[in-house]
Amino acid sequence: MFETDAIEREKQTVTAAAALLVSDGQRVGLGTGSTVAYLLPALAARELDIVCVATSPATDAAARALGLRLEPYPPAASLDIAIDGADQIGPGGWVVKGGGGAHRREKRVAQAAERFVVIASWNKVVAALAPPVPLELDPDAVDAVTRELGDVTLRDVPPSPDGGVIADYGGPIGEPGALAERLDDIPGVLAHGLFEPQLTSDVLVGRGDDVVVLRSQR
Ligand code: 5RP
Repeated sequence: MFETDAIEREKQTVTAAAALLVSDGQRVGLGTGSTVAYLLPALAARELDIVCVATSPATDAAARALGLRLEPYPPAASLDIAIDGADQIGPGGWVVKGGGGAHRREKRVAQAAERFVVIASWNKVVAALAPPVPLELDPDAVDAVTRELGDVTLRDVPPSPDGGVIADYGGPIGEPGALAERLDDIPGVLAHGLFEPQLTSDVLVGRGDDVVVLRSQR
């Protein structure tokens, strides 16, 4: 089997398991990306009475097309559960997100959720987090942030749905908590893709035909 086929299978395996974590009557946050793209039909197939909030226009449109009930972003009230993919799952529960540029909304939805579940294929599990760390920048502060951080690359993509500039920090990560604090303290950084361990309740990873639970709140 080609490696890409194996990865797609792992995504499908883990999303099938994640869809089972959602219960009738829940308010559900939906992430963004190719892993979440498998989650949406798995969730729709369960025909639960749920209300969802999407982290991107693409997820919103795909979920609606599958018949899921969507509330506009931002969430009007807390969410019972949110499920989202990851670019890197590092030691100690640190996660890097934002490969699709949706990290600002993804973090807001994760923060609004009582249970935030990260799902991924096994290739996302890393021994140490590595650059880049996705950023969303205030358009008026791009030069100032670049001067402050040094290694910032603007992505050639449209602004985020919230009007921010999507960029990547390519400098060393070192201790992720220290970098996250540093990024949080820079006013022109509207969001960054470092998700601290406290945000995540569960980490489920597809490995071959199995689901490996790297972190569980239950
Ligand atoms: C988008 C994200 C995605 O969840 C992350 O990039 C993983 O994507 P995929 O499931 O396609 O590998 O953070 O901003």
